Amino acid sequence: MKSILDFLKNKMKSVSFSRQDAVVNPLCCEFEVNNWVISDFIIHKLVPIVGVHPYPINEQCLMVASVCTLKPTHVFEWGTNLGKSARIFYEVAHRFGIETQIFSIDLPDDIEHVEHPKEKRGIFVKNLQGVNLLLGDGLESSLKEYNTIKQHNKCTPLFFIDGDHSYQSVKRELLGITSTVPEASILLHDTFFQSPESGYNIGPYQAIKDVVTDAHNYKIIRQDLGLPGMTFLYKK
Ligand SMILES: C[S@@+](CC[C@H](N)C(=O)[O-])C[C@H]1O[C@@H](n2cnc3c(N)ncnc32)[C@H](O)[C@@H]1O
Repeated sequence: MKSILDFLKNKMKSVSFSRQDAVVNPLCCEFEVNNWVISDFIIHKLVPIVGVHPYPINEQCLMVASVCTLKPTHVFEWGTNLGKSARIFYEVAHRFGIETQIFSIDLPDDIEHVEHPKEKRGIFVKNLQGVNLLLGDGLESSLKEYNTIKQHNKCTPLFFIDGDHSYQSVKRELLGITSTVPEASILLHDTFFQSPESGYNIGPYQAIKDVVTDAHNYKIIRQDLGLPGMTFLYKK
């Protein structure tokens, strides 16, 4: 009997803990989150669903923190692949009561890409309310949706770039977003930097370095302890 009561007590503690607001000092111009609330949510909710690949725990922390802090009305993300990142954004919004529409884009089936998921596209987000799966080029489709939404609704967007990881692609995507939506906050995946001798693809890292200047006025948070690496460019 005692052990059942202890179990329930612990369960309640964990639930109320994770339902706390994850943002600390929201009016401050700096970014601050409650790492315990976020960790609890990731360990008990996200990891059982999406695992730790391709997004290790430190990167999931940044994804959760960015949504909790910005409370984006819309998330534009590519590529969809299995839909794990879209599922993370969906679960964060759901848990922390953030009303957001998610647009997740991958290339059409007839376009060849080494990472194209084919019939597995979006399996983690199939039939979830508020998740819109689109086919096309990520940047073009997102900006088209953004421009339509903007005509009638308030739009505080978060972009997540995780498509083709070549230097040229990421540079084009960053230039496209920053020139069309200067107020946008942007998360990018696979941005770890190691010296070129490592043989790693440092295209996304280099693209950020070349595109983002002081004039953009971005604050930057990096998760770069090792591969794959994630960078958050934000305006608060
Ligand atoms: C590394 S996977 C993304 C992982 C995914 N976010 C997830 O949560 O599972 C890269 C994906 O980007 C897609 N892709 C590549 N170039 C693209 C583009 N220009 N527009 C949209 N999707 C693209 C690929 O087809 C592939 O499915």
